[in-house]
Amino acid sequence: MPGYKPMDSIDVVAGDLGVAEEDIVKLDGNENPYGPSPKVAEALGGFGFYHLYPDPEQRRVREAVAEYVGADASQIVIGNGSDELLSIAAMLFLSPGDTMANAPPTFGVYSFLGHVYDANIRQVERREDFGLDLPALELALEDGAKLLYVASPNNPTGNSLPRDQLERLLAHDAMIVLDEAYSEFSGESFVSMVRKHDNLIVARTFSKWAGLAGLRAGYAVFPPALAEIIWNVKVPFNLTVAAEQAILASLEDRNWLEKNIALIVSERERLYSRLAELPWLRPYPSQANFVLCEVRGPAAKDVRDRLAEQGIMVRYFDSPGLRNCIRISVGKPEHSDSVIGALKGIGAGVGK
Ligand SMILES: Cc1ncc(COP(=O)(O)O)c(C=O)c1O
Repeated sequence: MPGYKPMDSIDVVAGDLGVAEEDIVKLDGNENPYGPSPKVAEALGGFGFYHLYPDPEQRRVREAVAEYVGADASQIVIGNGSDELLSIAAMLFLSPGDTMANAPPTFGVYSFLGHVYDANIRQVERREDFGLDLPALELALEDGAKLLYVASPNNPTGNSLPRDQLERLLAHDAMIVLDEAYSEFSGESFVSMVRKHDNLIVARTFSKWAGLAGLRAGYAVFPPALAEIIWNVKVPFNLTVAAEQAILASLEDRNWLEKNIALIVSERERLYSRLAELPWLRPYPSQANFVLCEVRGPAAKDVRDRLAEQGIMVRYFDSPGLRNCIRISVGKPEHSDSVIGALKGIGAGVGK
């Protein structure tokens, strides 16, 4: 099986380049450049029970998340990152030989999970504008696909799923896992639809908007009947007390975090405009905290490598559905300035 190749961590990148971690412009993981709320460090520093196991039923933290997301606490399960909830969905719904539908280009973990659970993966490529090919996806569901993951906004393309399309998918007899990892940057969520649809799971995370990627804190909102079953299949102490404290502190400092979301959203638009000024790049509009660009001329991998030599990390993609693209996470304004400056340098040689 192909496995999943995640990016390198900042200490490894800095070690390879022989520079300090602070000098790396890390725009390859869609992480939050402003980091967690200062209340998180306070809570972690003052916590006195690291030697004790966490509450296996996650009561306090589920109540807090339920209030944040507007669902009932009984519908929520917190995980070691939202990855864990995506994985639990595959574990529950995929037996060897089952079919899973996937809509690439999208988050690589979905097909990775299909492989891990030995499913047949029906790949339904997105259209040219990265919207879903709805008739083909519906056909896959009619043909018996049991599970479909859809991200909104989608990674790496940045576009959102329209509500009517989600409704059409939900009308089929298949489990739909809607991945809202970037929802806070689009200002849109479909969590309220979970009550009405017993085949909808919404996965969400504190990694992006709340800057807790390293602490691993995600959750999913399940239809009530399904939520009960999750407790029978989840390992008891999946959530660390550190993640629990960090979630509680983050939700108590929502104003601080929301200001940073606003900074990231406005910086996304500035980055998009500046990228659009470079004639050899074609950025795609984004509702998330990254911008995907088609590279016209040089190989996207070479552009990624030349940026990396300068300590600027971005992702590149080159697959049939995603030809020659780079994805740049939205950082602080100075990070955008660095990447634009470096791209201008690289572009000076293009077309000559
Ligand atoms: C679409 C999508 N879903 C989920 C995740 C994983 O989030 P977490 O850190 O909560 O596991 C990512 C991370 O990049 C993502 O892009």
